Amino acid sequence: MDQMLKIDHASKSFGGLAALADVSFSVTQGQVKSLIGPNGAGKTTLYNIVTGVESITDGAIWFLGERIDGLKPHVITQKGIARTFQNVELFENMSVIENVMVGRHPRSGTGVFGSALRLPTAREEEGEILKRSMELLEFVGLGRRVHEDASGVPFGLQRYIEIARALATEPTLLLLDEPASGLDSGETETLSELIMKIRDIGITVLLVEHNMDVAMEISDEIVVLNYGMKIAEGTPREIQDDPEVITAYLGDEAYA
Ligand SMILES: Nc1ncnc2c1ncn2[C@@H]1O[C@H](COP(=O)(O)OP(=O)(O)O)[C@@H](O)[C@H]1O
Ligand SMILES: [Mg+2]
Repeated sequence: MDQMLKIDHASKSFGGLAALADVSFSVTQGQVKSLIGPNGAGKTTLYNIVTGVESITDGAIWFLGERIDGLKPHVITQKGIARTFQNVELFENMSVIENVMVGRHPRSGTGVFGSALRLPTAREEEGEILKRSMELLEFVGLGRRVHEDASGVPFGLQRYIEIARALATEPTLLLLDEPASGLDSGETETLSELIMKIRDIGITVLLVEHNMDVAMEISDEIVVLNYGMKIAEGTPREIQDDPEVITAYLGDEAYA
């Protein structure tokens, strides 16, 4: 069991506000690990520092034994970390499959100029990208909607487009930010199954989850943040009985 991602005494401040304060934990290869905590706890900020969107104020972040804090987001993507966003972010004027193909481009060798000139290699590559994007849409269950406008796809299914796009970068670690938010219980169940399917094909998953039951059901381990601090870490069973976790949740109106 190898340590894949290591958050090593990481802090992030916005002016006087400590969004993350001396947070340390690791994600082991092959697991589903969840990050839970009340609104404003620092969960999305943690994703932002791991993906290079925000810099850390203190500490270090390691991925597969290499220090990645300070690297540019596209470099971190190429190293194998992909994410989805708390608010679904799609290109609304593009079709479902085009939204996924966009995710594939950071991996392509010919780059923007090759594609624009339609060089033979670029054309072959475009075919590959199309094929892989199609496979991924089949995988997430959207195989029959590939040519629809992304904006016309029901909200509950738009998340799957985003997940397919993240998978198109061929990650070894996938960060999902509240993928179940706005979904009904049936949709949430289907999503949980997909997350386990993603883990089963060998992709390690870090999940930010608002819904405690979902986190409990599908996680191997859980980290709990509150006010930027890690207040607990353990198996779902350990977390569920932790007095500090119960207090943090009861104290937050959103969960009452
Ligand atoms: N870019 C930013 N500028 C200033 N404050 C921020 C920024 N991003 C997040 N914060 C603050 O950091 C804290 C943690 O936010 P966030 O990571 O979004 O929490 P969560 O995802 O757990 O709900 C909040 O108080 C939020 O207002
Ligand atoms: Mg958030």
